[in-house]
Amino acid sequence: MLEEGGELYLSERYIPERPLFREKIIEKYLGYLRSFLVYNISGIVLFEGPTGTGKTMSFRFSEKTIKEKLKLDEIGGKIIYINGRDKTAIEVLHSLLTNLGISIPRRGFSFGTYVNELEYFLKNFDGHVHVCIDEIDRVGWRGEHSVEDLLYVLTRNERLSATIITNDFTFLKRIKDPRVRSSISVDKSIVFERYSKEQCYHILKDRCEKAFRKGVISDSVIWRLSEIIGKESGDIRAAITVLRLAAEIAAERGGGEITVEDINAAWRRFESSHMVEKINALEAGQKLVLSGAIYEKLISLRGRLGMGSIGMDTLRVKLNELEGYGVISCYRRGRGRGAGIERLYRLEIEVQSLLEALKRAPELYIALMEEVKRIVSEKVSVFRETL
Ligand SMILES: Nc1ncnc2c1ncn2[C@@H]1O[C@H](COP(=O)(O)OP(=O)(O)OP(=O)(O)O)[C@@H](O)[C@H]1O
Ligand SMILES: [Mg+2]
Repeated sequence: MLEEGGELYLSERYIPERPLFREKIIEKYLGYLRSFLVYNISGIVLFEGPTGTGKTMSFRFSEKTIKEKLKLDEIGGKIIYINGRDKTAIEVLHSLLTNLGISIPRRGFSFGTYVNELEYFLKNFDGHVHVCIDEIDRVGWRGEHSVEDLLYVLTRNERLSATIITNDFTFLKRIKDPRVRSSISVDKSIVFERYSKEQCYHILKDRCEKAFRKGVISDSVIWRLSEIIGKESGDIRAAITVLRLAAEIAAERGGGEITVEDINAAWRRFESSHMVEKINALEAGQKLVLSGAIYEKLISLRGRLGMGSIGMDTLRVKLNELEGYGVISCYRRGRGRGAGIERLYRLEIEVQSLLEALKRAPELYIALMEEVKRIVSEKVSVFRETL
């Protein structure tokens, strides 16, 4: 089914030669990168947008372009990419130092020591370092130091600038340090929108032409996939994964062609496995909201799990986050004059997926058994609140 070497075009490794629909973003970003590197200007660029909208790809593409255009060695410029997922603030610093050629053990020193090493390097460096920290919202879930400590270091050093990437739309709002917050200036933040179905179609068509042999996938099949993705998430990574699954399904069937039915089946398979991952990616605190969604319940459950109490505001933030992830939906309706607003929360995912996800967190599963059973029978959680 695949062209020789076709797997590359259905993998994350592939950087498109001409990324469609991101030309303007890339041009703007290349301008920033150039001014950081050539004029030694400090600053932070924020890439923000839902998953699979081309954030990492746009960085990678720009990095490649700038390395081709500017002679970084001659101007003393360095561009370093670090994926922050599941790293502590110290591990990110360590990775940065290693990339700069400074050898220092991964563990055993204080945060301050790593910072000193970096500052010492920068003081004696006749050039500019630009570091991209991808999945910045995932930094500092472990360890003593928060992502804010790390960002503070990035903002207060000359000869250093950064790009930070997140798909968590609450990330910036959660930063409390005003110095850090103000240095991630609004005018240097770049928002990535979900791809529309038409955009999905053009991107996918290009990939399919490169990946598959002639006649394996028709325009109408690509169009069907684009429709699903455009409507559901605008996530090209999801689209490519579904494409790979559909090819597998077609092969299992012994067919030489990917059909609309294969796409539909692949989408269903993708969705059910994806939901489990999505729930697993949530923090433990969010899983509780998921399972109870009622404040008093939440407090008593947190008590049973030895977690501290949280306020109504925090609960509201968590519910908003879950709504953002598409895990729950909220329906607001007036209760009549002066009687406030009633909010009804509804679980938007298969209960089976919720159960599977909870099973992978045994401590929660045990404590939440009763709740889980209730959800299975009701399927809908209702949360009433008077404002
Ligand atoms: N405009 C585009 N043209 C071609 N391919 C694209 C385009 N945008 C994204 N892709 C491809 O889609 C996949 C996902 O993109 P990318 O990794 O950049 O997503 P992301 O925004 O970083 O998502 P996440 O937040 O989950 O990390 C990659 O394989 C990438 O090459
Ligand atoms: Mg990414």
